[in-house]
Amino acid sequence: MDFNRTVLVTGGSGFIGSHLVASLVTRHSDWRVINLDILDYCCSSRSLESIEDRANYTFIRGDVCNSRLVNHIFRTENIDVIFHLAAKTHVESSFESPSSFQRVNIDGTGVLLGAAHQAQHQPQCFIYVSTDEVYGASLDQVFDETSPLRPSNPYSATKAAAEYLVRSYWDKHKFPIIITRSNNIYGPRQYTEKVIPRFLTLLQMDKKCTIQGSLPKSRHFLHVDDAVSAFLLLLEKGIVGEIYNVGTSCEIPIIQLARELVQMVKNVPDSDVNDWLEFVPDRPRVDLRYPIKCEKLQQLGWRAEVSWAEGIRQTVKWYHDNPDFWREAIENQGPISSKSH
Ligand SMILES: NC(=O)c1ccc[n+]([C@@H]2O[C@H](COP(=O)([O-])OP(=O)(O)OC[C@H]3O[C@@H](n4cnc5c(N)ncnc54)[C@H](O)[C@@H]3O)[C@@H](O)[C@H]2O)c1
Repeated sequence: MDFNRTVLVTGGSGFIGSHLVASLVTRHSDWRVINLDILDYCCSSRSLESIEDRANYTFIRGDVCNSRLVNHIFRTENIDVIFHLAAKTHVESSFESPSSFQRVNIDGTGVLLGAAHQAQHQPQCFIYVSTDEVYGASLDQVFDETSPLRPSNPYSATKAAAEYLVRSYWDKHKFPIIITRSNNIYGPRQYTEKVIPRFLTLLQMDKKCTIQGSLPKSRHFLHVDDAVSAFLLLLEKGIVGEIYNVGTSCEIPIIQLARELVQMVKNVPDSDVNDWLEFVPDRPRVDLRYPIKCEKLQQLGWRAEVSWAEGIRQTVKWYHDNPDFWREAIENQGPISSKSH
């Protein structure tokens, strides 16, 4: 079968990547979707089982840092579009092993850019999925796309460094890139190290939600379906060379998030909610919040459609209905840690 477009998604077996791949494969049967993923510890083979047999889907297990493999893909597959999501993503781990974050997040992005730019079949668009964390924290300033980058942890520093690499290909070669900076994304199938699935998994095991530190930390939470719709809209309407914030006004203090999840999972009266919370020491420096403006993306017609009430209800239900999904991975890694992001 002839396809109209070939889309390469890196990190397509991860949380956001698997939702993006499933959406591309089912909505666009005339597009070929290639997923390049190393299948790191945060992946489950079950994430893409609904589409893995589709004729327009191809999986390649491999490392974005492997330039021979990546060059071969670009030489042989006529890639039109790249969504680059492959990354090491857990902030806490980035303090413990910053070099692995530098290798995958910076060097891997460099390998991919070099191969894409040199390919005989020139891609139309390279979308780099970055994060609001590159701005660093803010108590009152709301960041727009022109705000300075002040990453404050090894993870966000590698994402910012990769952004500079991506932008250099636009500045020097007019290679058609777009950068997205999104808020915290949540939804079904997210690995248990991230804050919402971590709280839900702890509660399912009859353990308390561990709240790090006493500072009033909050996060903006965007449902993964809204993130995917933003990425797909940017592919069609985004202006190359530009950066787009992808966010939501739904800001929730972490302690309130924990209380809400305790009520939903344990169904206890208000007076008993605190019995399910445990306060643990924080790392020395933690970003309290990352407020961003998304007008540039909204001007293209994007709105977050999934309300917090609906998104969290659906997410809690998914973890309730699929208690074994991550169990094997958790067993391989030992007990779920008290750290969160
Ligand atoms: N989750 C969020 O809240 C959020 C917010 C903003 C931006 N992002 C960005 O979105 C992207 C995806 O995030 P996620 O939450 O789905 O993360 P995730 O950890 O669930 O997925 C990352 C994926 O990258 C793959 N990967 C890691 N190293 C690789 C390598 N060397 N070669 C090939 N594949 C490799 C992993 O196997 C995994 O499938 C990341 O780039 C992240 O920085 C995430």
